[in-house]
Amino acid sequence: MIINETYSLSNGVKIPKIGLGTWQVKDGDEVYKSVLAALRNGYRHIDTAQGYQNEKGVGQAVRDSGVPRQEIFVTSKLESDIKTYEGAKEAFKNTLKELGFEYLDLFLIHAPWPWSNMGQNCDEGNVLAYKAMEELYNEGLIRAIGVSNFEQKHLENILNNTDIVPHVNQIGYFIGLDQSETINYCEERNIFIEAYSPLGIGFLLSNTDIKQVADKYHKSSAQICIRYLLQKNVAPLPKSVNEHRIIQNKEVDFKISDEDMAFLDTIKGDPRRWD
Ligand code: A2P
Repeated sequence: MIINETYSLSNGVKIPKIGLGTWQVKDGDEVYKSVLAALRNGYRHIDTAQGYQNEKGVGQAVRDSGVPRQEIFVTSKLESDIKTYEGAKEAFKNTLKELGFEYLDLFLIHAPWPWSNMGQNCDEGNVLAYKAMEELYNEGLIRAIGVSNFEQKHLENILNNTDIVPHVNQIGYFIGLDQSETINYCEERNIFIEAYSPLGIGFLLSNTDIKQVADKYHKSSAQICIRYLLQKNVAPLPKSVNEHRIIQNKEVDFKISDEDMAFLDTIKGDPRRWD
């Protein structure tokens, strides 16, 4: 079953193919129940971030789940406005404290620039933060390190100025969103791609072309969106706070034909709305 399968990162660390996303899930009861439901149903990969402000609930659920810590792959991300060496070290310490963990599986720079100033050139700060992460990695406190929302130019800066090629780049990726430039660059350098918002934060589910493919396979549109990404050899991170959807999103042990993949590739556009 796909929920038990893993990909291998460039350093040999195994990462479960499907992860539970937790962006916009509230700390406390909401995230706690979502993570517990996922773990109860076989998920072994949970994605959080300092910026989501729910690390505490994620950690509590992992620790209460009864599943051994080492069987669960947990990712967190450095707050987007922290672009210093000391700041990154301090923030990582706090992440471990919030999660209640001895170590983290994957730590990412959340974005190349602060969310409050998208597009700002933070090349120097990204290198400083990444160097702090390299040290934490070498100390054994993090099993893999990487970045998120990085385009080629941001990655080039890291590759030119640091020692460890990022193991992961987590990007927004779903049917219709063309990420080929970043993906090609990453694939050539063995940087693994994770796909956040695999359902286009839910907006893809009303796409009639996707629905048509879903009906043909007797699957839901969500399952087509997730399966599509798996056939692109990336790790989708679907978010849900409903157990029946959490279950549905892992039931993707079917194959979309090459012909239907090609049809899904013709869909273009980003349906996300932020209201
Ligand atoms: P909810 O959390 O209420 O279940 P994305 O992963 O692209 O960010 O999309 C997340 C959105 O899609 C959330 O609003 C989530 O709602 C919804 N969602 C997740 N899985 C499903 C599903 N299988 N069917 C319908 N909606 C889903």
